[in-house]
Amino acid sequence: MGAQRKREPGGSGVTAQRIGTIDELEVNKAYRVVLDGIAIAVVKDSSGIVHAIGDTCTHGDISLSEGFVEDDAIECWAHGSMFALGTGKPLSLPAYEPVPVFVVTVDADGVVHIDPNETVAV
Ligand code: FES
Repeated sequence: MGAQRKREPGGSGVTAQRIGTIDELEVNKAYRVVLDGIAIAVVKDSSGIVHAIGDTCTHGDISLSEGFVEDDAIECWAHGSMFALGTGKPLSLPAYEPVPVFVVTVDADGVVHIDPNETVAV
């Protein structure tokens, strides 16, 4: 069910960064953010879950956030590989390596935080 957790960000060792509020994100629109030099594609799906996956396609140097979002997946516009938002895994060739999935937290005020230094094992 994605990488979203509901907890208060903060505490030692937490490097999550605020990217905006959940209400500011349009459903099924991909946003590109760069946190600590890491390009991340952020998408709120139709269930309201916010996903954060590596923005660079594993088949080529293409920004996934420039692609289309459909059915909980994002399509690389270059050659059509679909990547699952929840797992980062490619659902179709030619890409066959997954992109990383980053930890997303939404605090009590609806503020979305992404930790570029914490990936989810999927
Ligand atoms: S560069 Fe993304 S599928 Fe080829």
